[in-house]
Amino acid sequence: MRMQQICFTQNLGADVDALIDALQPDRLFVLTDHTTRERCLPRLVSQSRHAAAAVNISIGATDTHKTLESLSHVWTCLCEGKATRHSLLLNLGGGMVTDLGGFAAATFKRGIAFVNIPTTLLAMVDAAVGGKTGINFHGLKNEIGCFREAEAVVVDTEMLRSLDMPNLRSGYAEMLKHALLEGGEMWADHLRFDLARPDLSRLQQLVAQSIHTKQRIVAADPHEKGLRKALNLGHTAGHAFESLAMEQQRPVLHGYAVAWGLVCELYLSALHAGFPTQEMHQTVRFVREHFGLPAISCRDYERLYALMQHDKKNVGENINFTLLAHLGEVRLDQHVSRQEVFDSFDFLREGGA
Ligand code: GLY
Repeated sequence: MRMQQICFTQNLGADVDALIDALQPDRLFVLTDHTTRERCLPRLVSQSRHAAAAVNISIGATDTHKTLESLSHVWTCLCEGKATRHSLLLNLGGGMVTDLGGFAAATFKRGIAFVNIPTTLLAMVDAAVGGKTGINFHGLKNEIGCFREAEAVVVDTEMLRSLDMPNLRSGYAEMLKHALLEGGEMWADHLRFDLARPDLSRLQQLVAQSIHTKQRIVAADPHEKGLRKALNLGHTAGHAFESLAMEQQRPVLHGYAVAWGLVCELYLSALHAGFPTQEMHQTVRFVREHFGLPAISCRDYERLYALMQHDKKNVGENINFTLLAHLGEVRLDQHVSRQEVFDSFDFLREGGA
């Protein structure tokens, strides 16, 4: 069981330079989106002599640019910059950049090395860790991609100081999911955390725990044959909320959709797997307080259900859910009826009452 190398840094430039000295690439490239090029790249190049000499490749920001065109742009820049199999790509950005950059690196000349430097909470605790790479295709999220782990993930939690609240909450939803999967004190600590007035040093401790949970699960099942499906908790319903919001041209941040998905899937967990209702209600209260409710009505249920049927994690006609029997005790590949799924949407809309 191999754990991915995670470097928690308090000295970004020195740690990045030490990593690059160890890897000894012949050429170095830094991928950013237009936002991280403005906001994060100057800090990196002012601290790292290697990054200062690297070729910058930049793509449009946000999920709408997680496309074949952006991927082609990265490949083109790697070609024009004479990248070889011994070159290195640093992915400096949120999950879109680390996913797309990881896929660009994994496929260029059959694979070059890459290092992820996540700049958002969501990317730190989830996207940048665990080797899932990819792009959106034909309107489907992460439809094309592969498993390929970064050489290392450099986590600089100082970057969270400048993160806006909606993105902080969005990342926190994945941390809440990890806490439900871990159970015990970790779950209680996450519900106690004051997300409205976050204390950065406490958040840093929770981030480290969260990454450790993800690493542990990925190391046991890197290619999602079994246990890694645990990480899909909240995502079967969550992806449907996210896709519906996109279709209705009122996109929501991924973590908000996951938080609402957690409410539905905890309801289904209580119904099907005996998850304790007290812990369900405590978690639901936290979600309602910090993430509000989605803008859906009962007229959306059929479409949400159809979106869930298209989930790439399904086998055949069945929708595969990850449910919980208790905190920390997962039940994989669970099937529930269409009516129960609709009831879970009612439960969410009624605020978990
Ligand atoms: N984000 C879920 C996973 O990495 O498996």
